[in-house]
Amino acid sequence: MLAIIGGSGLTQLPGLHIERREVVRTPYGMPSGALTYGHLDGQAIVFLARHGYGHTVPPHLVNYRANLWALHAQKVTHVVSVATVGGIHPDLCPGRLAVPDQIVDYTHSRETTFAEYGNGGQVTHLDFTWPYCAEMRERCMAALADCCEDFLPGGVYGCVQGPRLETKAEIERMARDGCDMVGMTGMPEAYLARELGICYAAIAASVNWAAGRGDSATAISGDAIEQNMAQVMARVRQALTRLAGMNYR
Ligand code: HPA
Repeated sequence: MLAIIGGSGLTQLPGLHIERREVVRTPYGMPSGALTYGHLDGQAIVFLARHGYGHTVPPHLVNYRANLWALHAQKVTHVVSVATVGGIHPDLCPGRLAVPDQIVDYTHSRETTFAEYGNGGQVTHLDFTWPYCAEMRERCMAALADCCEDFLPGGVYGCVQGPRLETKAEIERMARDGCDMVGMTGMPEAYLARELGICYAAIAASVNWAAGRGDSATAISGDAIEQNMAQVMARVRQALTRLAGMNYR
């Protein structure tokens, strides 16, 4: 079954015909909210709002382990994560979408693994050369192409700790590191999905130029972010409906 993890601007899925909500307890604590079961365009899916349904959980306090564990426990095999980002690459202007294929992780102090002492006892070092599931990326790109989206078919997602936005110098460093976009929630979510064997990919939506770039040369406008987010998430929802229509067995 497919799960959609919605980020900022996607705490609800208006087209979702909700059947039930389920509070799932996990050995890692509570997920960001109840799992919402429903049908999107006639297809059964699970939805989870990463920051809670009232958008109250900041990126550095999201219980990523509980979220992924709960989905896995409910027999979710595929996850599409929707994430807002700041555009670093010149082609990632506000309003543009991407399906990233790489990650640079700048986060710290987050719970990054299920494989820890007291939990089976084995130290694991899973391959993460390609952090996203190729099959799910293909599905995302097919869904976006179906919706006539002019998206970036790849790119390096730089994941920062947040909740603050970056300095201009930090974005310049990230650009030198090869990052094409900057967001706050891609990690450890992607790795935890890998540990659980979930086929995971992300649709990244640029909602602003990253600090120091484009019209964010001197400051990032919160109002502009809100406007871009509303506009771009309406389009993301179309793509999610296409994704839901695919067969996940
Ligand atoms: N930086 C980090 N995370 C973000 C940004 C940004 O500029 N925009 C949306 N999420």
